[in-house]
Amino acid sequence: MLRRAAIKPALPTVVLKEFRGYASGYSTEHKEPSRPVVKTEIPGPKSKALFKEMDAIQQCGSVQLFTDFEKSAGNYIADADGNILLDTYTQISSLPLGYNHPKLLTAFQNDSDIRALVNRPALGVFPAVDWPSKLRDVLLSVAPEGLTQVMTMMCGACSNENAYKAAFIRYAINKRGGATTFTEEEMKSALENKPPGAPNLSIMSFKAPLLQGAFHGRTFGSLATTRSKAIHKLDFPSFDWPVAMFPHYRYPLEEFKCENEQEDKKCLAYVCELFEAWQQKSPIAGVVIEPIQSEGGDNHASPEFFQELQKICAANGAALILDEVQTGCGPTGKMWCHEHFNLPCPPDMVTFSKKMLTGGYYAKPLYKPPQAFRIFNTWMGDPSKLTMLDTVLKVIKTDKLLDLVQESGRVLKCGLHDLECEFPNIINSVRGRGTFLSFDVSSAALRDKIIATLKKNGVLGGTCGNAAIRLRPSLIFAPKHAEIYLDILRKTLQELNQGAKC
Ligand SMILES: Cc1ncc(COP(=O)(O)O)c(C=O)c1O
Repeated sequence: MLRRAAIKPALPTVVLKEFRGYASGYSTEHKEPSRPVVKTEIPGPKSKALFKEMDAIQQCGSVQLFTDFEKSAGNYIADADGNILLDTYTQISSLPLGYNHPKLLTAFQNDSDIRALVNRPALGVFPAVDWPSKLRDVLLSVAPEGLTQVMTMMCGACSNENAYKAAFIRYAINKRGGATTFTEEEMKSALENKPPGAPNLSIMSFKAPLLQGAFHGRTFGSLATTRSKAIHKLDFPSFDWPVAMFPHYRYPLEEFKCENEQEDKKCLAYVCELFEAWQQKSPIAGVVIEPIQSEGGDNHASPEFFQELQKICAANGAALILDEVQTGCGPTGKMWCHEHFNLPCPPDMVTFSKKMLTGGYYAKPLYKPPQAFRIFNTWMGDPSKLTMLDTVLKVIKTDKLLDLVQESGRVLKCGLHDLECEFPNIINSVRGRGTFLSFDVSSAALRDKIIATLKKNGVLGGTCGNAAIRLRPSLIFAPKHAEIYLDILRKTLQELNQGAKC
């Protein structure tokens, strides 16, 4: 028997005691402030001192503020200086249930869960006796339809990286006519990074002309398919792989239906051209695409675009890999964003991380490697993350959080449309699904000013692409939070508008 008291995480009792139900009728309970509280400039003096301390040890130019996790609750992030902000960015879109959700704070109460926390296994070699049932009961319980295989990974980049490897393995097997054995020459040349053992094969990804394009991570394989900012890629050797064009739509969509359909056609024709052009040089074994290009600027493509793309991949024997690292686990109002696309058959692989708490990918059985150790690393994920994910998925279900996302999304989107009418010189192109929403600002400089002013007024927001602001609240963001956000955004835009007139 483990002595639980010794290792039980300390519960912030103040938070737990004061949790209340949502006014809207959703039962998830959170004690939150009723509004943001801003006491200092942000970053304030304490955050600045911590920054200095950290900067002596590592490059930390990306740090915005230091989080006080004890005082953060629900949709509100508290910082080192006692400021409490409505968080619409949620640790880069990775908090499914906000801060200090009571069900997560008590997720590690039984001995077997605590054992999973303290005994981290090498999952590919010595998994715990309950691992197969955890994979089935937790991860497969929300698997995209038709994908019966799942591999766990450490982060979004390595989920993609390994999905690409699975695509290459399948492509090579097909090329060998189904054979799963290797020649002497293949084995020898593989160790020298040369064909035929290390073949010239490629993964197609998408740039967005005039905008920033795909983001699939920063490890070498995933980085080769990332097409957003140069700073992510500079100085690193990379694979010369094909890059297709992601549609660039005009908004509002209803007004530019014909133009946007033409855009789809043009981009799909180019995908076909690339398949042909790369056949000799480096055949395309897989196509990776985000259902919504997120870091690149929340660039959307139509369901019809994805349906056609799937057909083209199938016709060319390439795997269609949907990167749902940012869109997965509910923020669009469905568990997986691609469920909005009515694909005639399942995609070949779907990668995940962020709100799923563990990285990994789902795949069709065809993508299971015939040999061990080909998709592998020491930890292969972390069982304790599945314990938390189990809780998250139960809360999503019992508290009907996908309905809440849709309801809050409607309030937000409607309010954003009102604001784009009110401030047409500042914001435009409101778009998105569920609470996975965004809008463009007339310039990058003004966008950054809006984000800074929002912060001063009590809202932590995220940016993406050239000049977009993205909303990435957690799944417990309710209509009342949407109202607060819209109220503060209006105040912010008024302030900036007046400033511009003076
Ligand atoms: C769509 C997408 N794919 C992959 C990644 C990489 O995930 P990670 O940062 O966990 O490696 C991200 C990260 O933002 C992402 O948004």
